[in-house]
Amino acid sequence: MLADRVKTIKPSPTLAVSAKANELKAKGIDIISFGAGEPDIDTPIFVKEACIKALEDGKTKYTPSSGIPALREAIANKLNKENNIDYSPSEIVVSTGAKMILFLIFMSILNEGDEVIVPSPYWVSYPEQIRLFGGVPVFAELKEENNFELTLDILKKYVSPKTKAIIINSPSNPTGAVISKEDLEKIVEFCIEKNIFIISDECYEHFVYDDAFMVSPASFSKDARKITFTVNAFSKTFSMTGWRVGYVACPIEYAKIIADLNSQSVSNVTSFAQWGALEALQNEKSKDFIENMKNTFAKRRKHLIDILNKYQIPYSKPKGAFYMFIDLTKYKNHFKDDIQMSSFILEKGRVALVPGSSFGKEFWARLSYCVSEDTLTEGVKRIYEALSSL
Ligand SMILES: Cc1ncc(COP(=O)(O)O)c(C=O)c1O
Repeated sequence: MLADRVKTIKPSPTLAVSAKANELKAKGIDIISFGAGEPDIDTPIFVKEACIKALEDGKTKYTPSSGIPALREAIANKLNKENNIDYSPSEIVVSTGAKMILFLIFMSILNEGDEVIVPSPYWVSYPEQIRLFGGVPVFAELKEENNFELTLDILKKYVSPKTKAIIINSPSNPTGAVISKEDLEKIVEFCIEKNIFIISDECYEHFVYDDAFMVSPASFSKDARKITFTVNAFSKTFSMTGWRVGYVACPIEYAKIIADLNSQSVSNVTSFAQWGALEALQNEKSKDFIENMKNTFAKRRKHLIDILNKYQIPYSKPKGAFYMFIDLTKYKNHFKDDIQMSSFILEKGRVALVPGSSFGKEFWARLSYCVSEDTLTEGVKRIYEALSSL
């Protein structure tokens, strides 16, 4: 008999969509995949070279569990310079991607029945991970009229004496919403007052467009820093999704616990991957790499908006990340649920997208614009034609 805690676990739907699309592609079927949550740009060559050099230099053994000292120091510098938060290297734990870091945070802070406020639409893994550790995800419903941005008024409706933590994911996956500095400051002040942990998932920090900008909650004040877990990864920023390097920065008493859990489970992130990550933070060329990637996504975002407008497919205009959340509710009467709808779009239109129900918003869908502009044009046309044939 398996453990009770795994009885409700579901596989990651976003990974499942990519796998299904790849399976069909391998059979020679011409599929356009909007499913991937990863940049289609290669990892920078200087990062690869640093990793190869580490291998050649024999850096192939266990490392300190929380990460090689040089990497933790470089992360502390980065947080100081880019995010305006003062952390010491001892307050940083490196693990296998932001996903594992979040897993370790929930494991560290949740007791049975503790509530975690998850602004909804949400990234797929938050509720699953929270439940695994006996927590209760409380979905704070965000409004489309407000571009799915969290405000203090919305948050207050969901707070209870059992609230232990809140997730802040700005820019957001799947909506691309970015919380304004003013709203975020109010939310942070409230969390300090109520002693609610903030888990700030900053994976998309560099991908912000137009006049939007991203602020780290821990940067507001010393008190904000005390209640915040600042989570980030190399996955999206440096196009290193397969490398599995992420980290958390938080007060030392929490960092120590997370480090112990990491040492009893992961041991350490692959030694040579850490040397690649270090190069990503230190190489002068990284700035240009990130800027170019951001500009590419900015152009695609604009292009995608133009095509969606042309076919009159409604969407929530994203301020960040590399996803577009589109509204397909007008087709809902044709389907049992949106999983059936996405299967229809895959079979009839040969386009893979992730159904909104995976993110808590049924009959919406997430398109990732990690594909070329031509592919975006063709893909949206196919979605439109498939749905118009109903
Ligand atoms: C919001 C968010 N957090 C965390 C992750 C996981 O990142 P990593 O690949 O570093 O584990 C993702 C990946 O899609 C994400 O979108």
